[in-house]
Amino acid sequence: MAGAPTPLSEDRRAGLVGHRILRFAAADSTNDLAKLLLDEGADEGTVVVAERQVTGRGRHGRSWASPPGGLYASVVLSCEPTAVGALSLIAGIPVVQALRHFGVFAGLKWPNDVVFMEKKIGGILAEGVYRHDRFWTIVGIGVNTNLDLERLPEEVRARATSLKREVDLFVSNEEFLDFLLGKFEDVYGRFKTGTRDRLLKEYRGLCGTIGKQVTVETPKGKVRGRAWDIAPNGAIIVMDDAGAKHEISDGTVLPA
Ligand code: BTN
Repeated sequence: MAGAPTPLSEDRRAGLVGHRILRFAAADSTNDLAKLLLDEGADEGTVVVAERQVTGRGRHGRSWASPPGGLYASVVLSCEPTAVGALSLIAGIPVVQALRHFGVFAGLKWPNDVVFMEKKIGGILAEGVYRHDRFWTIVGIGVNTNLDLERLPEEVRARATSLKREVDLFVSNEEFLDFLLGKFEDVYGRFKTGTRDRLLKEYRGLCGTIGKQVTVETPKGKVRGRAWDIAPNGAIIVMDDAGAKHEISDGTVLPA
């Protein structure tokens, strides 16, 4: 396997998350680069950032357009394989907190689309990977911070917005990431030390999907009903018109 490219720079933050931040001019996908770097000493809390991605990936094998200006980062984390679903949900909390801090009153759409006024402004792709018998979780975060929406594919552009579009003040990607990682540190610390119920409660509070009439497209077909709750494993619970509850761990929420 070819080695990882050389970073443009390396920074450090106090704490675990971002104790090492490796910045690259470009990556195929920061999630893939983070996985590659696991073989070269990347450890829990390492953050990989790229100014653009060539083949950025979204959930369900979709592509994530990644022109310069956007924030593309992956965080190396460690949790038990059964907790990846919950961790991928709560990873949305610091992203929403950062957007709100800088003036965009964003929220979450299950599982972890970051949205503002029904338009997508960010997303999270969490992937589990084994290296030498150790399980790692790579949490990839994409935020439309300072990209020109015109550079997104037309079909994406219509349903997307950016920080730059929504606020007058310029916020650099460095400043945004620094704030985000500070919030991530807090959420991840609480996740590791066991207050997951409280975090899921916070997630529910930020998730606009709960309580809505929805159709969820799943690998096994569509489920229609009211988004009832979030299970501890991160699955969404939908109650259909007959009152039956469906627990769905993998799917896409569509309008009802
Ligand atoms: C989604 O909404 O479908 C998830 C999008 C996740 C995009 C980020 S950008 C950084 C990281 N690298 C990737 O290839 N994807 C994630």
